[in-house]
Amino acid sequence: MIGFGGTSIVGLDIGTSAVRAAVVTGARGSAALQSFGQVPLPVGAVMDGEIQDPGPVSEAVAELWKRVKIKSKKVVIGIANQRVVVRQVDLPFQEEKEFRAALRFQVSDFIPMPVETAEIDFQILDDYVSETGEHMMRVLLVAAATDMVESFISAASAGGVEPVGIDLAAFAVARSVSAAARGDAGLAGAEAVVDIGAGVTNIMVHDNGEPRFVRILLTGGDDATRALAEALDMPLEEAEATKLDLGRGVGAPQAQQALSARVDELVEEIRSSLEYYLSQPESQPFSSLLVTGGGSLTPGLSEGLERSMNLPVRRSAPLADMNISKSGLTEEQVAQVEPVAAVALGLAMGASQR
Ligand SMILES: Nc1ncnc2c1ncn2[C@@H]1O[C@H](COP(=O)(O)OP(=O)(O)OP(=O)(O)O)[C@@H](O)[C@H]1O
Ligand SMILES: [Mg+2]
Repeated sequence: MIGFGGTSIVGLDIGTSAVRAAVVTGARGSAALQSFGQVPLPVGAVMDGEIQDPGPVSEAVAELWKRVKIKSKKVVIGIANQRVVVRQVDLPFQEEKEFRAALRFQVSDFIPMPVETAEIDFQILDDYVSETGEHMMRVLLVAAATDMVESFISAASAGGVEPVGIDLAAFAVARSVSAAARGDAGLAGAEAVVDIGAGVTNIMVHDNGEPRFVRILLTGGDDATRALAEALDMPLEEAEATKLDLGRGVGAPQAQQALSARVDELVEEIRSSLEYYLSQPESQPFSSLLVTGGGSLTPGLSEGLERSMNLPVRRSAPLADMNISKSGLTEEQVAQVEPVAAVALGLAMGASQR
């Protein structure tokens, strides 16, 4: 089994506010967290889910391995930005091997970037006979700009690790926060999983682990901080502290108002993506809505989402079912990292299934 002798693969999440690494062994009910750590990133190193300044990212990765003492250097990196797209398309049925052989040629019409400059992957979701009697298949395409993917690989490599895979952050999040997405539990209907970060919000809808919809929004908790900074004319650090205070019920009405206004906009952006999925002919109503990510702690956000979707919103607890004794994390540390750990955990869990 993967996980012994330093052969485990590390989930590496390069987010806007921090770089995070996780090692998970075992699967299903017996998953165990071996290590978890994070190192903050300076503002501007990662923006809109892309690496703007590779130097500090590489340094943070090197620092992370020093601090957390992770034996393995093999990493899977999560990606979430505007230069990766996920599309569901219906095509005449083909054997997987044939389809793969002519992939670029067949999918060029569906991908909003030149296929020669993209990394393309796919998953065959289903096959069926159409109304006109044609054997069809439904395919989930993932296309990522090659230069963007390479910028992640080279920044991580310069930090001393060895990238062995790339995964969509949205898939990783669903895997770590939802037993239904992992196939460990059944759900009637679709489930929406929303990771609200600092600058990126990942929205993923799945039906018992089959991805149905992915949308990546360039918005998150930092937008609430910026709105406070502008409204109250204060530096970002102070606005961040004010935001956290508001979460504890402390703050002036003016601050509360500025925050609520931005939170309403955030809720609206997320709602309209979820509504878009629901407007599609083959969509299924949501049986649940799970949120994670530091941005999901923005005061009023999950309550707003609950009201606007008219659905109970649950905060995910990806470490709840995991044995954490090997990780050395205290209960207090677990509570602190749990909201921001989903991507790294899910990347590690996906890698350990390979
Ligand atoms: N207790 C809290 N209350 C309100 N907001 C919080 C809290 N803790 C963290 N945040 C906010 O969460 C955001 C960071 O979330 P997270 O760590 O998930 O993002 P990230 O992974 O670094 O970035 P991204 O995924 O967007 O690239 C910041 O905007 C921060 O202000
Ligand atoms: Mg994140």
